[in-house]
Formats: sequence, C-alpha cells, structure tokens
Amino acid sequence: MKKQFALLRKVRTSVAKKSEINIPGADGRLQSVGIIMDGNGRWAKARGLSRSEGHKAGAKVIEDVIRTLNDLGVHHVTLYAFSTENWKRPKEEVDGIMNLIYAYLRRVKEISAEYETSVRFIGDKSPLPKRLREKCIEIENMSSSKTHIINIALNYGGRDEIVRAVNEAIREGCNPVTEADISRHLYTSDSPDPDLIIRTGGDLRISNFMIWQSAYSELYVTDTLWPDFGREELIKAAEEFYKRKRRYGGLNPEDEAK
Ligand code: FPP
Repeated sequence: MKKQFALLRKVRTSVAKKSEINIPGADGRLQSVGIIMDGNGRWAKARGLSRSEGHKAGAKVIEDVIRTLNDLGVHHVTLYAFSTENWKRPKEEVDGIMNLIYAYLRRVKEISAEYETSVRFIGDKSPLPKRLREKCIEIENMSSSKTHIINIALNYGGRDEIVRAVNEAIREGCNPVTEADISRHLYTSDSPDPDLIIRTGGDLRISNFMIWQSAYSELYVTDTLWPDFGREELIKAAEEFYKRKRRYGGLNPEDEAK
C-alpha cells in the first residue's frame, strides 16, 4: 500500500511540474473553490442525447478540474452534485444520477489517494441508496487530511445545513448561538469558506449552495455548460479572481488614508 502511495505521489509531482500555471498577481489567496456544475441537461439536449448522458459527460470533467485546481494550489473544493431539491426530478433521472455517482466513486477513491486528499460527502446521507451511502462512508474513512479536501455535496442544501448547525449548537449548550458556533457545525467546518464560487450554465443565482459560507465569496458565472468546462476556463476564472479586490465590507487599503 505504502509503495502504491509513493508511486502515486511520484505521478502527481510529475503532473504538477509539467503544468505550472502562471497567473499575474497570484499569491496563494485562492485557497477554496465551490462549483455549481450546471448545464448537463442543456448540453445533452443540444446533442439529441438523454439528460443522463449529459450527467455522464459532466462526471468526466471532474478529474480535469481537480487536477487543475491542484496545479493552481487550491486544496479545498466543494462540488454541488445533488441538492435537497433535485429529488423533484423524474425518478429515472434521479436514479440515473445516483447510479452514475456510485459508479464514479471508484475513480473518486483513486483521486483521493493520488492527491492525498480527503473526500467528504456533505449533506444528509440518510435518504441515499444504501450501497451509495456505504461507499461514501468508506471513502470518507480512507484519509483524514484536513489540509486537502474535496467536498462532494450530495443531498445537500444550504438552509438545511444551517438549521442542522444551529440545532447542534443548541444541543451543545450554546446560548446565545454565535456565528462561530454555526460555522463550527457546518458540514464544511474543516475547509475555509470558498474564496471563489464558479457557476456554469449561465444562471445568476446561488441555488441554496453554501449560503452561509459564501457571504464574501467572489462569484464567477460562465455560460459554458458543465460538460464543456475544463482546465482553460478554470484558469480564466482564477485569473479573474486575482484581478478582484476583496473588501469584506471595508475599504481598499489605498483608499483608507484619503
Ligand atoms: C445540473 O445540471 C447538474 C446536476 C443536478 C447533477 C450534477 C452531477 C454530475 C456532474 C455528475 C456526477 C457528479 C459526481 C460528483 C460524480 P442540470 O441537469 O440542471 O442541467 P440543465 O440546467 O441544463 O438542465
């Protein structure tokens, strides 16, 4: 097993070396990224394919995105795979997504080892199909890294997450409940709040995704449909991030003295 990890580390280093990404102004501030992977259905429709084919094409993109984020020095990513509202879709589509995610978890497991990254499935696992739930837990238990984390949001809703966190804090005896108490009980408590949230498919909304954590996230929305998203556009999003000035409600330092 050790030998296997050493080999994978070697592969990973060589990948990282080959793909140095130079972005003007990049200084490592981009640590955490959230992604709303939207547009699989439209991508499929445009090609006369089923929506499930669109999701399949969407799953294929994930690896390239994780590799590119790693090359960009981003070690926390949260992928919105299935929301608490997505159960409203036709059963056939929901079953298709669940089966696809289950099938893709084998690759997720390999990616977790290759990048020495923890994988967390955030959201309420209880309504997931049993074999999927068990596989998620198995993968979560594989690694305990707190510095490199892939969060996969599965049956996830931001409001649901906040309600759970508040109730946890109350159970713990917090009175009054503070912002820190809520943050500590979020599914993503081990990851920094996303510096950047990317949404593909062009819709200008947050769709119940990380609504607590995104208070000061920079937003990047692209019309590109998720199956067409990849390394090049991700680098563009990072470039855009490094051009932005984040003020967190304050002023730019150069304006403070005026
Ligand atoms: C939104 O597109 C996408 C989803 C609800 C599913 C996302 C799932 C994947 C990318 C596949 C697997 C994920 C993992 C982590 C293995 P949409 O169907 O709403 O597209 P539309 O807006 O064009 O209809």
